[in-house]
Amino acid sequence: MKTAYLKFDPNKTLSHINKEIYGHFSEHLGRCIYGGMFVGKDSQIPNTNGVRNDVIEALKEIGIPVLRWPGGCFADEYHWHDGVGKDRKPILNTNWGGVVEDNTFGTNEFFDLCEKLGCEPYLAGNLGSGTVRELASWLEYITHGGNSPMANERRANGREKPWALKYLGIGNENWGCGGNMRAQAYADQYRKYETFAKNYSNPGMMKIACGPNADDYFWTEELMQNLKPWHTGAITLHYYTLPTGNWQKKGAALTFDDDEYYETISKTLYMDEIIAKHGLIMDKYDPERKIKLIVDEWGCWYDVEKGTNPGFLYQQNTMRDAIVAAANLNIFNNRSDRVIMANLAQVMNVLQSVLLSEGNRLVKTPTYHIFKMYLPHHDAELVKTSLAAPELEKAGKTIPMLTYSLSKKNEELFLTVSNCSLDEDCEMLIDPEYGVISGVSAQIVSSEIHAYNDFNGNTPVKLSDYNGFEKCKNKLIATIPAHSVASFKFKV
Ligand code: AHR
Repeated sequence: MKTAYLKFDPNKTLSHINKEIYGHFSEHLGRCIYGGMFVGKDSQIPNTNGVRNDVIEALKEIGIPVLRWPGGCFADEYHWHDGVGKDRKPILNTNWGGVVEDNTFGTNEFFDLCEKLGCEPYLAGNLGSGTVRELASWLEYITHGGNSPMANERRANGREKPWALKYLGIGNENWGCGGNMRAQAYADQYRKYETFAKNYSNPGMMKIACGPNADDYFWTEELMQNLKPWHTGAITLHYYTLPTGNWQKKGAALTFDDDEYYETISKTLYMDEIIAKHGLIMDKYDPERKIKLIVDEWGCWYDVEKGTNPGFLYQQNTMRDAIVAAANLNIFNNRSDRVIMANLAQVMNVLQSVLLSEGNRLVKTPTYHIFKMYLPHHDAELVKTSLAAPELEKAGKTIPMLTYSLSKKNEELFLTVSNCSLDEDCEMLIDPEYGVISGVSAQIVSSEIHAYNDFNGNTPVKLSDYNGFEKCKNKLIATIPAHSVASFKFKV
């Protein structure tokens, strides 16, 4: 067994871990919304205003803090006015499967859902094919509390009070599906659209510009030269983990060998490097860090499951995804001085979802259990640590054996650790610089690396209590089994 040594000062905290780091993303894509979360009021499946009750319950259980909608690429083709009121106009979803949607899930349904979930709505506005007027009137419809044409239309559609809106994205992937723009051209468009994007009940609404794809540092450089903190609250970053790195053959969700597993881990850990490098560029133009970073699309992207619509991006989710989720959430926690929100792609039935459905059956994926395990990190303070840990030489790469983060809330410390090794356990010495560790409780998600939860009620990957630790004087000695994610709550 290998050994790792974690040292920390329980009183030295570095940054606030915004609960929005644990955010989600729901696009009009495949069965994320229609036939997924939203089954319609007349469905046999128990629902509230068309949204499955079991989904609402499951998302509340992981404390969903924010939900992004309606896309993704779909956002830059979405015309909100077709999706409100009694006579809704259908829309052709050109990006995802070429299906026609009847627009029964629109603005009212989305905001009502967020209220039910108790989460912040995060809108992605249409800059690519919409007009400035369209975006402005959408905000008037949502946020105007007085007498105005759009507010009155909202009232006629059954909603008296305006909804709360804290986050507005202006366009999505405008370097690609959102208009294939050059960075400077997008920056100019952004400035124009944001000028007219008025929130009538919350003037402090954060306006969010479309940031780079993965390691496109040029985009960040150009954007930061042209955007100013008084009109930009944050820029976004999108980075997906493809096991093979090849968009034509990304790799399967369920079948992968050891090398492909380690490739996946190595690729997912690249997230840390790109956040750091984009951060350096951002600091050059905004040394006071007024403009924040939001990773509003992340997760594993595999080849779709056989027999499913290639445009629907449906994939299963194994113990490997649990390790990927743990690694990324640890990275976001450790970089919470920079990253204020992250949104896993996507919440249900698309890419690395937390929930999968088939008819009335609902599966909580391995990724779901990691989000549940990490709940105590929400709105906690990141604690300063140093770790001496082994490295793995695998698939021609050097990979840290452990990923971890430590936070503090209400005098309680919370440590999450993932062991990325497929075959070696790791003993971790958890050592406070002063004081004595007490009141320890632990949980674990651990299973065979290919294991997944299915629709027949087999749930090998779930959260369980864990007793693989002992106290030794003032320290804690814990065993982190190979390919597992463990958490420890304690006091010092
Ligand atoms: O999440 C799926 C797609 O990935 C989104 O629509 C787009 O923004 C990204 O390319």
